[in-house]
Amino acid sequence: MSFSDKVAIVYGAGGGMGLNIANDLIGEGAQVALADLKPQPDGIAGGPGTSVYHQGDATDEAFVKHVTHTALDAHGRLDYLVNTTGVLWFDRDRSLLDINLSVWDRVLEINLKSFALTARHAIPAMQRSGGGAMVHFSSIQALRGDTLPQDAYGAAKGAVLSLSRSIAIQFAKHGIRSNAILPGATFTPMQARWEGKRDVQAAIAAHVPLGRIGTSQDMANACLFLLSDKASYITGTELVVDGGVTALP
Ligand SMILES: NC(=O)c1ccc[n+]([C@@H]2O[C@H](COP(=O)([O-])OP(=O)(O)OC[C@H]3O[C@@H](n4cnc5c(N)ncnc54)[C@H](O)[C@@H]3O)[C@@H](O)[C@H]2O)c1
Repeated sequence: MSFSDKVAIVYGAGGGMGLNIANDLIGEGAQVALADLKPQPDGIAGGPGTSVYHQGDATDEAFVKHVTHTALDAHGRLDYLVNTTGVLWFDRDRSLLDINLSVWDRVLEINLKSFALTARHAIPAMQRSGGGAMVHFSSIQALRGDTLPQDAYGAAKGAVLSLSRSIAIQFAKHGIRSNAILPGATFTPMQARWEGKRDVQAAIAAHVPLGRIGTSQDMANACLFLLSDKASYITGTELVVDGGVTALP
């Protein structure tokens, strides 16, 4: 898989999966724009590719426009878009019966609308570049309900799959591919509640056929494959990366 001199934008790059993906792309020689609401994290890879960090809100179209145009101005092209932005608000995102509707709206804005905004600005840039590839992060929660419902999160993650497929068929003729990844439980800052809780981690791992919790590296490996030319005939589909959880009866 060669990413040398390719230009990528990674949203959610201040977090677990996004930062790992950005670093792997930089490590493979890509020119990477990292974007996140959080201040610049430690540990951004030094090369052989390059990095630029943008702090801002991915639901703000002016910010998204700025990130896209800065990458285009610097490199004259855009090859990849990765959407990992997301929030999982355990305390506030509940059943549709009692969720505060402003929480519902904000979760949908962050977990879904931001993906549409970033794609809306990336697509014209990719069209001018002769094609490109996108990976959007959904969740295995898109495929099932939950005994402890987080209905806004689940609805947004389901909609990410339809959005990704729609992008795939609309822009295949421009050489643009769009795919989604559905992670299972993955140890990242989003799941900081598991930190130091060995019993909780062991219980989650015991439920996974492959016997462990996922890592951001597992997700980055899948993402770089889908971005790469090795996946040049793959578009409009989903890759479940969950250690076998959704295959369980
Ligand atoms: N960790 C898991 O168990 C898991 C499981 C399934 C799916 N996912 C999905 O994978 C993706 C990556 O998750 P992660 O585990 O790396 O989480 P994470 O919390 O480490 O990363 C998500 C990043 O999104 C950023 N973000 C949130 N709101 C933003 C906004 N308005 N504008 C810009 N940035 C914003 C956060 O600051 C954070 O850095 C998410 O979409 C998540 O829903 C995670």
